[in-house]
Amino acid sequence: MAIVLIRQDGKLDLWKNTFLQQFPELPVYHYKEAHPEEEITMAIVWKHPEGSLTKYPNLACIASFGAGVDFIMEDTSRPQNVDITRVIDPALAADMSEYVLAAILGYLKNMDLYSHDQDLSSWEPKPYTRISDHTVGIMGAGTLGMALATSLSQLGMKVIGWSRSPKKEKALKIYDGTAGKVEFLHKSTILVCLLPLTNTTKGILNKETLSHLPSGAYLINVARGGHLVEEDLIPLIDSGQLSGACLDVFQEEPLPTEHPFWKHPGIKITPHVASVSDPASVVPQLVENYRRICDKEPLLHLVDPQKGY
Ligand code: NAP
Ligand code: GLV
Repeated sequence: MAIVLIRQDGKLDLWKNTFLQQFPELPVYHYKEAHPEEEITMAIVWKHPEGSLTKYPNLACIASFGAGVDFIMEDTSRPQNVDITRVIDPALAADMSEYVLAAILGYLKNMDLYSHDQDLSSWEPKPYTRISDHTVGIMGAGTLGMALATSLSQLGMKVIGWSRSPKKEKALKIYDGTAGKVEFLHKSTILVCLLPLTNTTKGILNKETLSHLPSGAYLINVARGGHLVEEDLIPLIDSGQLSGACLDVFQEEPLPTEHPFWKHPGIKITPHVASVSDPASVVPQLVENYRRICDKEPLLHLVDPQKGY
């Protein structure tokens, strides 16, 4: 039994070294080095090359290095009937909450517009809004969405959520399903997308959905680029229906240099860094699942392949 790590972003050595620092005896390989394919029972992956999971005949688990598993679900060549797991980590949730808070406060106080003005040496005071003027609507009241809701509520922000299934949250109004979607949108002056990317949520941030927001609402997409119909965004901002957007994720990453989002003053861009799995924090739960595979115990943080998240 052994683990293979598959990712193409230059972080393979960092992850492998962290596994070995924390668990020196662990049989862990990265996919570019010689490794015993028949012994691999766990593949830990992040945007792995399509087809790379087909060569492990004894795979018992495909684990995401992160919270999202969309790239695993999209790989139709992956072995079927193999458990899929994802990361649930308080540090990941805290990082996400800090990022979204920064984006909200930057928007309220016009920080992005002033950065643009500064580039032009332009002294142009603008009206600002306050926390009390806004309702933050969180699309995706799951692990990250609920942690965000708690953090924002503690700062005195009005927060509402939207999920697939009904919730019995006392402290927070959570709308659910298609029936609750429009009312949820009507109330959200700041919309944060924290949905998983699935067949149902793909393209959900489109002209029709975003037109249900109050005029001048602000969009923060920290989920996946596939949620946003990108060609709908600039017309919505230019018409005033949206006052702007903060985007951490894109249909194509890195965002191509010629993409119109780069130059639009109402769009804030960050390079998919809202919350990044920290090896030191995440390795223990991945190794716990490896132990469970070895001991034939149920795995932690399983994904429902029917729901896709
Ligand atoms: P999660 O715990 O699975 O929560 C997902 C939430 O979305 C749940 O509340 C779920 O509803 C809801 N949902 C799913 N499909 C829906 C639909 N069709 N309609 C309405 N609600 C729906 O996921 P998470 O751990 O919070 O992570 C969310 C996503 O964040 C990840 O999938 C990943 O793509 C993204 N992410 C991005 C970054 C970054 O750096 N930008 C970092 C980490 C994660 P139910 O509660 O009813 O199931
Ligand atoms: C990051 O995007 C994650 O899914 O963890």
